[in-house]
Amino acid sequence: MQGIVDGIAAHVAPLCRQGQVASYIPSLGGVSPDNFGICVAMADGGVYGAGDWQVPFSIQSISKVFSLALVMSYDYDSIWKRVFREPSGTPFNSMVQLEADHGIPRNPFINAGALVVTDRLLTLTGDAAASVRGLLRQESGNPAVDVDAVVAASEADHGHRNASMAHLLASYGNLENPVDEVLDNYFKQCALEMCCEDLAKASLFLARHGVAAGGTPFLAPNQSKRVNAVMLTCGTYDAAGEFAYRVGLPGKSGVGGGIVAIVPGRCAITVWGPALGPNGNSVAGIAALDEFTTRTGWSIF
Ligand code: DON
Repeated sequence: MQGIVDGIAAHVAPLCRQGQVASYIPSLGGVSPDNFGICVAMADGGVYGAGDWQVPFSIQSISKVFSLALVMSYDYDSIWKRVFREPSGTPFNSMVQLEADHGIPRNPFINAGALVVTDRLLTLTGDAAASVRGLLRQESGNPAVDVDAVVAASEADHGHRNASMAHLLASYGNLENPVDEVLDNYFKQCALEMCCEDLAKASLFLARHGVAAGGTPFLAPNQSKRVNAVMLTCGTYDAAGEFAYRVGLPGKSGVGGGIVAIVPGRCAITVWGPALGPNGNSVAGIAALDEFTTRTGWSIF
């Protein structure tokens, strides 16, 4: 496996300058596109990394996997009364379907759906961002995982579209908490900083059918299966079809350039390359995962 990750890092290095680093959150715009990291965390404990795999980055929308998992761990299936689980075919921050669907977001991984999940987690825990951070610390084994306050503030300053969505959700009665509190928690969870190694370790419960790092069940096996299914169909937004075609794994991207992918029963993989393609997914990251399933044969298909 070490040879495979080294080979992939060398293979995708020339792609790092394809695409654009996200700049709509100004504090993300300064990250160098030349970074590339990959880490494979095996369900049996082995960890293999290459490139910038221990350099922290903004996990952004990858946090939506962990907030959904937490809500399902507390609430079982009731979140699905407030969020659909269909691919949207629209950009991650689109609002066009929300009104047509009477305030029920298409899935928990577009921003509108993630705001509803964060709202529910806030009701359940009193501090949604801290509970996501707690899960990530516990599962990665790194107590230093934290929110980058500068990124969170930058998101809040430029979060007009998320604020519009939250108010529209509230107008349909699909928020339980004040809009400002939901947004504050959402911006903080997106601004969590982690490296590929910690994020791969923290995602392993989805490769272990819901079993947490300590060996106890965090999610039931069928819940873990469902989170993976929603990652496959909705985790890379309007490029989910292309991602399934090229990579063939459940995956979740973030505009910080990270992607987490899961091989159920085997491993969790994190890749990071800050330059994004037109759908907001890392160009080098998708190429690396494409290479990974080609070289290992470990696609779910
Ligand atoms: O809501 C936003 O704009 C960001 N905080 C998260 C966006 C994101 O990562 C979408 N992913 N590709």
